[in-house]
Amino acid sequence: MPESKKRLFTARLLSWYAEAGRHDLPWQKEDWYSRIVSEVMLQQTQVVTVLPRYLAFMEAFPTPQKLAQASEDEVMALWAGLGYYSRARNLQKAVRRIVVDLNGECPSTAEGLAELPGIGPSTAGAVAAFVFRERAVMADGNAQRVLSRVFTVPGNSTETRFREEIWALASDLLPSSEDMADYTQALMDLGALVCRRKPDCRCCPVSVICGAAAEGHPDAYPGKKPRRERPVRHAAALFAFDGESVWLEKREKNGVWKGLWAVPVLEGDDDADGSVITARFGLRNEDVLRTAVLDAVIHDFTHYRLILRPVMADLRRGTVLAGTGRSVAPDEAEMLGMPTPLRKLLESCRQLRTVLPRLQIRDSGDS
Ligand code: ADE
Repeated sequence: MPESKKRLFTARLLSWYAEAGRHDLPWQKEDWYSRIVSEVMLQQTQVVTVLPRYLAFMEAFPTPQKLAQASEDEVMALWAGLGYYSRARNLQKAVRRIVVDLNGECPSTAEGLAELPGIGPSTAGAVAAFVFRERAVMADGNAQRVLSRVFTVPGNSTETRFREEIWALASDLLPSSEDMADYTQALMDLGALVCRRKPDCRCCPVSVICGAAAEGHPDAYPGKKPRRERPVRHAAALFAFDGESVWLEKREKNGVWKGLWAVPVLEGDDDADGSVITARFGLRNEDVLRTAVLDAVIHDFTHYRLILRPVMADLRRGTVLAGTGRSVAPDEAEMLGMPTPLRKLLESCRQLRTVLPRLQIRDSGDS
């Protein structure tokens, strides 16, 4: 590949960024803490979703020391809505390592940053470029899309050869260290704003040198990933109410939603009616005043699809379920870190309870 094409790419990208790139995102400063928090949040989540959560997180934990000292519950509650919760646990571990083991000194190279929990090579490269102006490679999904098109790199990110070729190309294209922060942001912004899945080549600063555009099908790059069939799992989720309080338990076991507060969930594929399902959760018939089964919802995790059947149950006052949970009042439930799909279903159950006829409540015998 001619050197001139590479130089042209970098120069054009930088001048486009000065005009059209994003310059006032709240994390755009040379401060390792803001950059690590924001880059971890942005790993699988879009800027619009991250923005309000980033601001709330930084208000709660304005310094690395505050985050290092926070409880898991506090951190999880503020991560709510971002998903992929292991990122939150790893972020806190990484910051604790810097604060406690490294006396507050953040590693200043991509190599050192990549040794922290949850910081992969691309995130490490981004932080090193933004904060320390290191000539470090960032090759996230957006960057991969841009580079595979401009330089017609065949294949897709599930292939080692593709990832190695992109990485080598990205490292060849790096500008001088004083332009590293702008260049890294420019590559992210071009991918997010112009060179999207459906690209807007008319607005693109590098369309004149883009191999994929010249071939007439820019969206043919990167190549399609093989379709992965997600296994399907079924479960029932029990929304057990004691008055306005709902039974919640903290999920301690490894697996999905670890560290979050959730209603009891029981795996199993069944379409039994509410009273059968409440019995499966160990409830005695006489403790259940009424039940209602809501429409199942689908939630896609990375490795499987979950079909979740919500069951609302009103319990006799003071009924205790097996396990480590407890009945939680609405104000407190609001403050706890709860997986978003369960939070939405909880809201649906509360609404349903206001419209279900009161007559449907069986006499609990304790009036
Ligand atoms: N995606 C990952 N990091 C980003 C950043 N710093 N700005 C915008 N999008 C991003």
